[in-house]
Amino acid sequence: MIERIKQLQAEVEAMYAANADELEALRIKYLSKKGEVTELFNEFRNVPAEQKRELGQQLNALRTLATDRINTMREQFEAAKEAADKPDLTRTPDPVALGSRHPLSLVKEEIIDIFSRIGFTVEEGPEVEDDRHVFGMLNFAPEHPARDMQDTFFVEKEEGVQKPTDILLRTHTSSVQTRVMTTQKPPIRVLCPGRVYRNEAISARAHCFFHQIEGLYIDRNVSFADLRQALLYFAKEMFGADTQIRLRPSYFPFTEPSAEMDISCNICGGTGCGFCKQTGWVEILGCGMVDPNVLEACGIDSKQYSGYAFGMGVERITNLKYRVKDLRLFSENDVRFLRQFESC
Ligand code: PHE
Repeated sequence: MIERIKQLQAEVEAMYAANADELEALRIKYLSKKGEVTELFNEFRNVPAEQKRELGQQLNALRTLATDRINTMREQFEAAKEAADKPDLTRTPDPVALGSRHPLSLVKEEIIDIFSRIGFTVEEGPEVEDDRHVFGMLNFAPEHPARDMQDTFFVEKEEGVQKPTDILLRTHTSSVQTRVMTTQKPPIRVLCPGRVYRNEAISARAHCFFHQIEGLYIDRNVSFADLRQALLYFAKEMFGADTQIRLRPSYFPFTEPSAEMDISCNICGGTGCGFCKQTGWVEILGCGMVDPNVLEACGIDSKQYSGYAFGMGVERITNLKYRVKDLRLFSENDVRFLRQFESC
């Protein structure tokens, strides 16, 4: 019997179960009613009295060993099962779907980046403005049509009372320029990005709000050549080194002389296509030398200082860059549209 105990002891020490079922099979093999260890206890009755003490101790030790080994393994399987049921908080997460930046933000940032390289800094101002900052100080005549309710959204001072009021939603970010000119001393070199509002019917080509970036540079001896050079630099950085610009005389109340700038069509390269209406040129911004009346209205001595200003629609530039045909896509938050900018 002593031999059998030793043999079983070695087996129990080496026993291994890969899963809970195999472990149960081991328990049955050794410890169940007909198990091999249990069988030895049955045989123990026939052992001579003088050997009982020693063999009894060894048998008990064998049973304890087998029970402990099986219980330990069972606990391990149970712990593993419990862990599998619970989320593992230390695991690396699955890739999360990333959002994308809005195309108007991408283009706005790019424009700011280009001008910041030649010294422009960003200034922002309120969207709800007064007449003075949007029109008055910018040399708009009192009867200018932009002051008409058909063109501009006025803010009611009292409910139901629409006029007279001089509070309105800004129609251009030139209002930020008047704020900067009245609070800062030249040299001034600022970019004014922001949302502007105009009373237009919403269609593919017009919206009641859109985004502008305007620029203003005031210093001694600023000339139209400086303006042209800055805009040529911008056009080449934004649309490629081959881009050409063309300045056409125009009119704005706050600049004299004024111009509109075209760039060579970046879709056909200037040879003529549907986008540029076969002209080879597309208009992208308005600009000019700040009218001395504006400088004086803002408290800047127009005999000492001169300046240039320009303003562009961010939607227009985005349209050229990403060929977005319908303006409404920019504000409808259709994820099928927005997702296309994920890698930009
Ligand atoms: N404020 C003009 C607009 O909204 C753009 C502009 C800015 C033109 C500065 C000339 C100079 O259309």
